[in-house]
Amino acid sequence: MRSETLQKARDFENQYGPHIPDEERPAFHVTPTIGWMNDPNGFSFYNGECHLFYQYHPYSDEWGPMHWGHLKSKDFIRWERLPAALAPDTDYDGSGCFSGGAVELPDGRQLLMYTGVRRERNADGFFQDVQTQCIAVGDGLDYEKYEGNPVLDAKDLPEGGSAVDFRDPKIWREEDGTYYAVIGNRASDSSGMILLYRSGDAVNWEFVRVLDASGNQYGKMWECPDFFPLDGSQVLLTSPQEMVTVGLEFHAGHGTLCLIGDYDPQGKGFVRKQVQAIDYGLDFYAPQTLLAPDGRRIMIGWMQNWNTIGAKPDYCRWFGQMSVPRELSIRDGRLFQMPVRELEKYRRQRISHRNILVCGEVNLPGICGRLVDMTVTIRPAGHDFYRWFRIHVAKDGEHDTIIRYRPDQGTLKLDRTRSGLPYDIVHTRSFLVRPLANGELKLRIILDRFSVEVFVNDGEEAASAVIYTRKEAEAISFEAGGTALMDVEKYELVFE
Ligand code: FRU
Repeated sequence: MRSETLQKARDFENQYGPHIPDEERPAFHVTPTIGWMNDPNGFSFYNGECHLFYQYHPYSDEWGPMHWGHLKSKDFIRWERLPAALAPDTDYDGSGCFSGGAVELPDGRQLLMYTGVRRERNADGFFQDVQTQCIAVGDGLDYEKYEGNPVLDAKDLPEGGSAVDFRDPKIWREEDGTYYAVIGNRASDSSGMILLYRSGDAVNWEFVRVLDASGNQYGKMWECPDFFPLDGSQVLLTSPQEMVTVGLEFHAGHGTLCLIGDYDPQGKGFVRKQVQAIDYGLDFYAPQTLLAPDGRRIMIGWMQNWNTIGAKPDYCRWFGQMSVPRELSIRDGRLFQMPVRELEKYRRQRISHRNILVCGEVNLPGICGRLVDMTVTIRPAGHDFYRWFRIHVAKDGEHDTIIRYRPDQGTLKLDRTRSGLPYDIVHTRSFLVRPLANGELKLRIILDRFSVEVFVNDGEEAASAVIYTRKEAEAISFEAGGTALMDVEKYELVFE
């Protein structure tokens, strides 16, 4: 039975969603049908297609009682919109269906596992949320919530765990048929930890162990975990709240954290060896991954950050976008990420310039546009070793988004100060990069109408930012302090 709340959301998105013209949305980054979107949810394969759900409040451009929006895709780039999948319509999730995951069941149905939120008064008389884990089963379109919900609640927590911050189950099924879920929680020191649960049928769950914990070192509450093997290592992703700045690796506020280590399920569990940020830009949070049938581990993130959500144009019919889906790998103990190779199918009109001497500012024939996949390779030239190198994109007389490299500091800076955001929030982010063995720096820049994503040296670092530059601002130029040699390869991205 479809609830009134869900039917109302579906009617609303049917009525108003189609009014948003395509040109007012990104060309290939996911946006909500109408209204607000945050975290990706249930990113997984079902019936041979990729499904993506998202945290959704259709009725305004602000966060509100969470629904799950829904889309699917055959290639991660072009998406078909589907009706809203979940609505906050029961006593255990009436304050929101928070983030979670999805898995295909052996009987051909699809199971969603999510956090149900209900409001209660605490001992001080204040309202507080109680978070439990719930499931719903369906056919890829319509889902029935399980009558025994919730399937995990306060009694399933380890000692010291929090029933208020207990959310974002990411579920997967192992080859032996066992289901696992990692869930964010807060330990007795009030900082985050990730819990592992196990189930034979995805309905009855038992606590296995704490996989890792912040110990107040990497932020407070750890949200939206994911846990998977990759290239011989084990990876734990999470998005911590209330981080403090650590060098150029972590910025203050809501951040992203990638822990790389070893995993011994019978013995010590997860042992972390390397710690890094996931994305070094301004707008990235709560990523989730899937394992594609061809073996690729693919990640998608909310290309926004809680600390930047106030900075939007006055009136938006949609708010929130997803990053381009990214293929993950581990090299030399680091997480690498590159746009899914399917994006290359949409490349048209290749323009290539090689060995261009840059000294001062340079414009090149054919190098412009706002739907762009461009790779720029920079290397030293002559005696006047360049001190800085800038790439300007989405540029006109008033606007300019700048990617600046300082070889002496080994930093790359993404600067969207003049990218049309009408708020005085943080607009620049710097992070460490290192040249390739041959002394070159290689930057792949993906531009859509409302974003820029930069991938450094075949994905060793990634940095994303939302921009609101008017679409006519499509100039691109290059500038060096000193002299540098540069190769540029640029494609138009075309989605007819
Ligand atoms: C992360 C998050 C999740 C929660 C959801 C609510 O962005 O705070 O922890 O499930 O958003 O919309």
